[in-house]
Amino acid sequence: AMAAHHQPSRLAFDMVKATTADTITLPKGYTWQVVASWGDPLWSKGVPLDTNTGGTGASQEMAFGDNNDGLAFFNHNGVFVLAVNNEYVNPKTLNANREGGETMTADDVRKNKAAHGVSIMEVAKYDGKWSIIKDSKFNRRITADTEMEITGPARGHDLMKTSADPRGVLAKGTWNNCGQGQTPWGTYLTCEENFNSYFAASDDSYQLPDELKRYGVSTSEGRYKWEMADDRFDLAKEPNEPNRFGYVVEIDPMNPNSRPKKRTALGRFKHENAEVAIAANGHVVVYLGDDERGEFLYRFVSKGKYQVGADNSDLLAEGTLYVAKFHDNNRGEWLALTPATTGMTEAEIAIHTRQAASKVGATTMDRPEWVAANPNKVEAYCCLTNNKNRGVKPNAGGDATPAEGPNPRVKNNFGQIVRWEPSNEDHTANDFKWDLFVMAGNPAVFDDAYAGSANVNKDNMFNSPDGLKFDRNGLLWIQTDGNYSNEGEFAGQGNNQMLVGDTETGEIKRFMVGPTKCEVTGAAWSSDYSTMFVSIQHPGGTWPTGATPLSSVIAITREDGRAIV
Ligand code: FEO
Ligand code: CA
Ligand code: CA
Ligand code: CA
Repeated sequence: AMAAHHQPSRLAFDMVKATTADTITLPKGYTWQVVASWGDPLWSKGVPLDTNTGGTGASQEMAFGDNNDGLAFFNHNGVFVLAVNNEYVNPKTLNANREGGETMTADDVRKNKAAHGVSIMEVAKYDGKWSIIKDSKFNRRITADTEMEITGPARGHDLMKTSADPRGVLAKGTWNNCGQGQTPWGTYLTCEENFNSYFAASDDSYQLPDELKRYGVSTSEGRYKWEMADDRFDLAKEPNEPNRFGYVVEIDPMNPNSRPKKRTALGRFKHENAEVAIAANGHVVVYLGDDERGEFLYRFVSKGKYQVGADNSDLLAEGTLYVAKFHDNNRGEWLALTPATTGMTEAEIAIHTRQAASKVGATTMDRPEWVAANPNKVEAYCCLTNNKNRGVKPNAGGDATPAEGPNPRVKNNFGQIVRWEPSNEDHTANDFKWDLFVMAGNPAVFDDAYAGSANVNKDNMFNSPDGLKFDRNGLLWIQTDGNYSNEGEFAGQGNNQMLVGDTETGEIKRFMVGPTKCEVTGAAWSSDYSTMFVSIQHPGGTWPTGATPLSSVIAITREDGRAIV
């Protein structure tokens, strides 16, 4: 519980009520527009999306990908570039020309791969409206087939070698890119999350190693069925291919010819986002969540130091990975994952990071999603989105998941946000104090721990915090990906939404509600803060066109043109 304050609220807008309306609902005085939707061409030789067929491989390669998630805004001498993750596809919609997609042709797989990855595009605002600048030299599609350099400890290791890449140094593509990060040296970090569900095995005698089971890789037919047209998704033919995914990838968005770099030093797991903070001593700290029940929260500390004006481009190639251990006395520590602490080589730690973290006794968490570091104070926050099956081990080799520390509720359908403050105002310090900024809940239904913490009430309640980002004022933007039934224990919570928190007072106000069945995720601001870009992912009504629902990036502005808050 937070102390009552008597200053005026820093959240200077009228709170939006929960709603199930199939639109974007904002406070009075704010407006929105679509900037980019799935299938919008980035080049003038592209064609508009044919929603009856889902388009073709060729049309998708020229167009904005599907299911946009994390995104970042770059200002390069007045040229504005948005980089946006395209996390996954909806096979039934994308493969509409194939009677539900049960049989995948080579062109279906080509289209699937092109709808994944990252869309990079120049944007500009004319007559009050943001749009894609077609044919800009900065426009680029990064897909599940784009060549990427493998950097860091796993580079060249035997587990990284495949028939197409016998040296284990060059991976093809990135997929299931969820949250993101942005470095002060101008690069974009895209995070590979549920990379496992793209693999299958054609041969029943293939024995899946325990190391892959821990990551949820399975031999049964993949959700996406790419193995039907590309052998590298067939475990029986390319058993090491999954070891080349589950990383953070660094991309230079201003150099469309640059080869993206997989940063294996940041570990391999179901990466949510990559929150960069420069410590007072110059080391680059990256906070990283592994979004699976009973997995962990991580911190990377670079070996080198960030220096303005120096070549910082390879700072993420080398450093030490740590995993969080939370104690019940509101103290915690970062445990280093090294050959000495794990008995594993540096390459093995980079590839089998979950197993390394289990060896040192890290704290199992309620699904760590985005981490956000406060730009105005040395502290960071992480959404623990929910845990609906405590006690059920998610994957082979996983650890027990007791309700304790920052994961206090046994059946956790609502989620919470943990924050930690490193000792000595130093992001590289190995100990910290922690507390819960908020426990989500429903005070209209419960009067126990499931009502939520004191800063949750009937007017601002929500469930399943996921996206999380600080603005320049140190206000914390919270986005949800949860239950939108508006019934039972979720009654009165409406659609998924975006709220703003004042981390000093604990106050939380709802700023936006998304359309039917969507998730709200990813946030970025224009340089002058007059526009906020947000991803609306997997809408399920008829938003935004009144017909087929389309994942889209929206721009939110104030009618008076001033900064968002
Ligand atoms: Fe793609 Fe953990 O959300
Ligand atoms: Ca998502
Ligand atoms: Ca997410
Ligand atoms: Ca989520």
